[in-house]
Amino acid sequence: MTAPILRRLSDLRAKTADWRRNGETIGLVPTMGALHAGHLSLAEAAKASCDRVIVTIFVNPKQFNTPEDLENYPRTEADDAQKLAHLGVDLIYVPDPDQIYPDGYATNVSVGGSITDVMEGPFRPGHFDGVATVVAKLFLQTSADKAFFGQKDYQQLMVVTRMARDLDIPIEVVGCETVREASGLAMSSRNLRLSADQLARAAALNAAMREAAAKASAGEPWAPLEAAARKTLAESGFGDVEYFDLRCAGTLEALEAPARPARLLAAAWMGNIRLIDNIEVLQLKS
Ligand code: PAF
Repeated sequence: MTAPILRRLSDLRAKTADWRRNGETIGLVPTMGALHAGHLSLAEAAKASCDRVIVTIFVNPKQFNTPEDLENYPRTEADDAQKLAHLGVDLIYVPDPDQIYPDGYATNVSVGGSITDVMEGPFRPGHFDGVATVVAKLFLQTSADKAFFGQKDYQQLMVVTRMARDLDIPIEVVGCETVREASGLAMSSRNLRLSADQLARAAALNAAMREAAAKASAGEPWAPLEAAARKTLAESGFGDVEYFDLRCAGTLEALEAPARPARLLAAAWMGNIRLIDNIEVLQLKS
């Protein structure tokens, strides 16, 4: 049976108030729909640690950088509800746009500083403000105890964690492992827009990342590894590689070597689809 779909904040609040009266905990999985196995794994993680689970579906206009990207974003609500049917999700909140941004809406939540100044920040101006704003609203509207996000959007995970902490929103942000295709490609709703040929080529991104990460962990210097990876990606049919960075896992500071917990994060274009991914880089043995 599919979970009930609510579209009005007042209905959502009535439901969560009932749960609270019974002393039940609430887990939240915020999504923009076009659900894939990665989202479903978040719902499963939520179900495993909370009494009640809310999945939200809202294609948030404030976080898109171009009208075309917003327009082309896949919208598959009925399929999404089917996919969630067997996971024990208690309700799907698909807010009408005015429930998030009512007439005259004027507030922006902006996380500043070093975690938003790099990588996605400069390439997608305003994107993280859009994410922080809508996620703050979803945290407050659902009053969830825990919220589950994929590590695929590693920088986003850091931004929403910082936002909740800075605003004293009483919620635990839980980061969950990236779910991948057999080829290694990170699952993403945007993969739906790749042709079969592009989908096959796109696997080169994660392969190049794994190779560079393994060599960096073995002590090879970073700059030539990055250059070699960029060359491989160009040969595999990728267009612009916006970044292919070795960074501190905790602060996102650029690193020359994984001398402390590190991640390799990348963004690259396959045709007109922008793909991102990140992986852990094992620390150098001292
Ligand atoms: O990761 C996403 O799908 C979105 O950025 C999120 C967190 C649902 C906010 O719109």
